[in-house]
Amino acid sequence: MSEPPLIEIHNATIWRGTTRVFQNLSLSIAQHERVAILGPNGSGKTTLLKTINRELYPVVAEDSWIRILGRDQWNVWDLRKHIGLISHDLHDRYTPTTTALEVVVSGFFSSIGVHGVLAQRISKQQVAKAQNILDLLGIGALGHTSLNAMSTGQQRRCLLGRALVHEPQTLILDEPAAGLDFAASFDYLQRIRNLSNSGHNIVLVTHHLNEIPPEVERVVVLKGGEVVADGDKAAVLSGEFLSSVYETHIRVAQLDGYYLAYPGQVFYKT
Ligand SMILES: Nc1ncnc2c1ncn2[C@@H]1O[C@H](COP(=O)(O)OP(=O)(O)OP(=O)(O)O)[C@@H](O)[C@H]1O
Ligand SMILES: [Mg+2]
Repeated sequence: MSEPPLIEIHNATIWRGTTRVFQNLSLSIAQHERVAILGPNGSGKTTLLKTINRELYPVVAEDSWIRILGRDQWNVWDLRKHIGLISHDLHDRYTPTTTALEVVVSGFFSSIGVHGVLAQRISKQQVAKAQNILDLLGIGALGHTSLNAMSTGQQRRCLLGRALVHEPQTLILDEPAAGLDFAASFDYLQRIRNLSNSGHNIVLVTHHLNEIPPEVERVVVLKGGEVVADGDKAAVLSGEFLSSVYETHIRVAQLDGYYLAYPGQVFYKT
């Protein structure tokens, strides 16, 4: 039997508050695929990731489903073992006094913070593993430092550690390098490349083409809640196509498997 897709979205309609973000969205991502998702602000990228992560649900309708690894129903705890998500609002949900170790350990419980009863359930092994991950991420000395005393890059690394603690097969990253300086973002991206090269699924949302690791083969472009492109990276990332999607002049350069967008003078009409 062939392995089921990592994600299979079929005919999904998804609302956020009073906004219908997607109508009849269909998208499938295979296991071991590396995918980048692009699209203008408000096009639905974060909504899509939250749906995959079961933080948002589509409208129940006939002939509409979302399956993860072939299953419709998931216990959220089980799902977290397969999928690690890193997003900005996750970051915002932590109290500023949470320490790096607490952030990473909370990943074992898929919780925000580890207080009360949860704190009593933490084992020595879990703390040791969390410390090991902090070491690997280059912030081993910050275990007892609180989030509000860290730079943005250090906070981001904590969240990566939280997502990695379960060793999930899939990492879903929503603008992971936003706010990082060159050293921090290149280092972070190298870590994502290493994970990708060791067989992890990567689903990455970004606004910056140079943050797309060369290993990513497939690019999906959303606009106004629709998939306007889905295919081979080289074909999708053309200046002509991106200019039409973003309605601005964009030229695209390529270097060693990386892409870079910069302002263009020629406006391509579709
Ligand atoms: N909590 C919310 N309540 C109501 N509408 C929302 C909510 N969050 C997002 N939306 C709307 O849903 C649509 C898609 O938003 P989403 O956050 O998925 O976009 P995005 O592609 O991630 O954009 P960005 O590039 O700015 O991060 C937008 O029109 C947005 O205004
Ligand atoms: Mg977003």
